[in-house]
This record gives sequence, C-alpha cells and structure tokens, in this order.
Amino acid sequence: MPDCAFVLFGATGDLAERMLWPSLYFLEEDGLLPDGIVFIGNSRTMLEDAAFHTFVKEAVRQRAKGKIDHDIWDRFARRLRFCAGSVTDKATFAQLASLCGEAPDKIFYLSTSPALYAGIVEGLAGAGLSGPPSRIIIEKPLGRDLASCTEINDALSAVFSEDRIFRIDHYLGKETVQNLIALRFANTLFEPLWNAVSIDHVQISVSETVGVEGRGAYYDEYGALRDMVQSHLLQLLALIAMEPPSSLDPDAVRNEKVKVLRSLRQIEAKEIGKFAVRGQYRKGFADGQEAPDYASEVGLAASDTETYAAVCAHIDNWRWAGVPFYLRTGKRMPERSSQIVIQFRDVPHSIFAGSQLDANRLTIRLQPEEGISLSLMNKRPTLEEAGFNLQPVSLNLSLSDEDSNGRRRIAYERLLLEAIHSNSTLFVRRDEAEAAWRWIDQIQSGWAQSKSAPLPYNAGTWGPSASFGLLERDGRSWCE
Ligand code: BG6
Repeated sequence: MPDCAFVLFGATGDLAERMLWPSLYFLEEDGLLPDGIVFIGNSRTMLEDAAFHTFVKEAVRQRAKGKIDHDIWDRFARRLRFCAGSVTDKATFAQLASLCGEAPDKIFYLSTSPALYAGIVEGLAGAGLSGPPSRIIIEKPLGRDLASCTEINDALSAVFSEDRIFRIDHYLGKETVQNLIALRFANTLFEPLWNAVSIDHVQISVSETVGVEGRGAYYDEYGALRDMVQSHLLQLLALIAMEPPSSLDPDAVRNEKVKVLRSLRQIEAKEIGKFAVRGQYRKGFADGQEAPDYASEVGLAASDTETYAAVCAHIDNWRWAGVPFYLRTGKRMPERSSQIVIQFRDVPHSIFAGSQLDANRLTIRLQPEEGISLSLMNKRPTLEEAGFNLQPVSLNLSLSDEDSNGRRRIAYERLLLEAIHSNSTLFVRRDEAEAAWRWIDQIQSGWAQSKSAPLPYNAGTWGPSASFGLLERDGRSWCE
C-alpha cells in the first residue's frame, strides 16, 4: 500500500511534459522522494501503461539532455500508474480511488484548464478522496479578474480548507527568489537601509525574447498585465517590500506579503496614462530571427491585448512612502532577463568636487544568470595632483543553482517537494491572489475606460517609448 498517492490531472499536457514529470524524476535522482509515494497520471487520452511510461521517459530525457540513469529510472517507473478518463465522468474518480487505495496521504495536482477545477474537486469529494490531509495544487491562471478568481476560490474552498490548497506561482520556486528572503532576513546589513530614507526607487523587470509560443488563444484573453504582473511581478514586489516576518511559517510570511499587496495605491482611471503603459509588438527582429507582429502570430486581424506592460506602483505605508516601484514586463524584448534593482539615494552632500557620484545600486538578477551585485563608488588607484578621482565599481556575487551535472534546477522541483511535505510558505494564499487581482482590475478598467489601444513597439526593442517617459518624468531611467 502506498503511503502517499500523488495524482496528476493533465498528465500528458504541455506543463506535465516540460516541467512536472522531469521535476519529479529529478527529485528521485536526488533521493528526495519519500519511499512510499506513487504517481498516478490522469488524462483523457487512452494510453496503455507502457505508452504512458514511454511518454514520461521521453519527457525526462528531453529535459535531462539524454542523461537518464537506468537504475534511477527503474525506481521512478515503479512508482508510475496511469488512469485514463475524463474528469467530467464519475467513473474516472472511482478508478482513481481504487488506484489510491488506502494511501493515508493524497495530493492532487490540477494541471488542467481552470474551467475544470470546480468539477475535479467535486469529483474528488464524491469519491471520498478530499478529506484531510489530502491537498490540491493548482496552477495559474487563477481567474481573469477578481470576480472569476473569487469564484474559483469559492469552489475550491467548498471542498478543501485553505491550508490544503497550494496555489503555484513558479517564480517562488526559483532559487534567487528564495534568496531574496535570505538576503533580507539572514543579514543585518540591508535592513536599516531598506526604506524610504535610503532607497530612491525599485525596478522589477522581466523581459522575454519569446513571443506567445503557441499559446495565442490563452494569451489573447489575458495579456501581459494579467499573465505576468498579477502573479510573478507582484510576488517579487511583495517579497522585497514586506516587513520581516516573525518566522518562516506559511502564515507568518504570507501575512506580511498580503499587507503589502493591500497597501498598493489604487490608480485612478483618469491618471492611468501617467502610471501605466501598455504596448503590443509589431514585426521586428528578436531572438536572432525575424518575428511577426503579435496579431498575426495569434492568427487575428487585430487585437487589443498588450504584450508589454509597465506600471509605476506606490505602496502606501510608512516604510515605502514616496518610493516608486517601477514594474515592467514584455514579450519579444531584446534579451531574456529578470532583475530587481534597488536604487539607493544620492549622498546628501558631496565632498568630492569635480567627481560625479553614482548612487549605490543593489541588483538582484534572477535569470538568465543568477547573481547579486552592489555598485559602490571607489577611488581610482592613481596619484593625482589634487583631489580624488572616483569611479563606480561592482561587488559581484555570482550564484548558480547548477547541480554537479551542470543542470539548472527547475523551479517546480522545489515547489513539488514543498507540497509533498505539506509546507505552503512558497505558495500563494487566497487573500494574496485576491488582493493582487483587486489592484490589477483597476488598471485594466482604467485602460478600458481610456479606450486607448496598446502602443506599438518593434519586436526586439525595449517596449513603447512611453514606457521610458514613465521614469523620465520622475528624472529616472530603466536599468538595462
Ligand atoms: C508564465 C507565463 O507564468 O511565465 C508565460 O504564463 C511566461 O507567459 C512565463 O513566458 C515566464 O516564466 P520564466 O520562468 O521563463 O521567466
């Protein structure tokens, strides 16, 4: 009898193939899976067990760049079961119940369309599979606005208590994102400076070179603000801006994050153009090749969906009063990069006549390389007739989460492991998701009221010119 049955709905889908099966296999490789865990894949596709094993092995092989250890694979394969059937069919849940057997612990990962969530949790309840400690893991998009998010949350909470709902934001599984917590709370150095007295502004920037990668139907309904800002960028903002939690307990951390999200200043519709910019890529040259314009990439004559969003956010509390947080994200940008820049204030008075002093800057790079750098002013080691000759230098900390095989960890590995161990610190709580949607909704509604279309930018450039104006108006500029 298994100790834990881990059921993956959407077992032959894109996310399962690219991320979930490889992540579970890598946990096996690292000896991190509990002995008694089994994985039950569910999908509507009728597959024989052997064909399912081949599918999973191929998914792992792709990600492991061909390096699969036979013994480890055999150990992993012994855990795999397959259950074919539609989640709209009661019989599927009966079959799942029999595959789970008497396993005392059960985890259900819903890697399906959110439209199916309510039906799946009802099916689980009907088959007697939803009692504690059973838990569910769900993927974004968690709604398209506050109303639809609340509806999904209500359906989930009718069956599972909040402590048994694990909402994934894969950015929270990234090593450097967790390192933000370490940087802030395992060091005394920054905390006294982490406020409006010392910090001029913060930039959170996630740029991608890819377009919509065959997900046009989904993307056109969502756009950059809902797809990226509501989740990943606001989670990063919350981690940067939160007060020190009293412990790493899930609620201690999430209580602090939600306070930040609730303190985000509302942007009035009449001021939307001053605080938010949206753009859509036209034809251009990105990622080393010609890129089509967005509308034709998604197969439409025209579209009003933004592929770029930049917002100037303010957090109305004592720590951050007057410190703008500039957020931006876009597809078909010149490079793939995610970084957070903490820009410190200028020295209050310079004693170095004739030398320009660059204010200190802490840059946290999430990808492609992971690292932290701190820029400082330094004296050039030269002998001058008079005075000091200064230059900016960088203290660089290069971090890598590559394992001994030179493999980068997938963010999902950490998240799956945490969910298996029932630790929800790195998952999004209901009130966080809803507070984030509340703030996103008013921007979306401001854009709708303004009736302005997204501004064009050429693929392979840094977004519409208005996005530069967003900072220039405040005497600042984006760090690239
Ligand atoms: C997903 C978005 O959540 O994150 C995608 O839906 C985006 O549109 C992706 O490409 C980016 O993730 P990462 O880890 O590549 O930065």
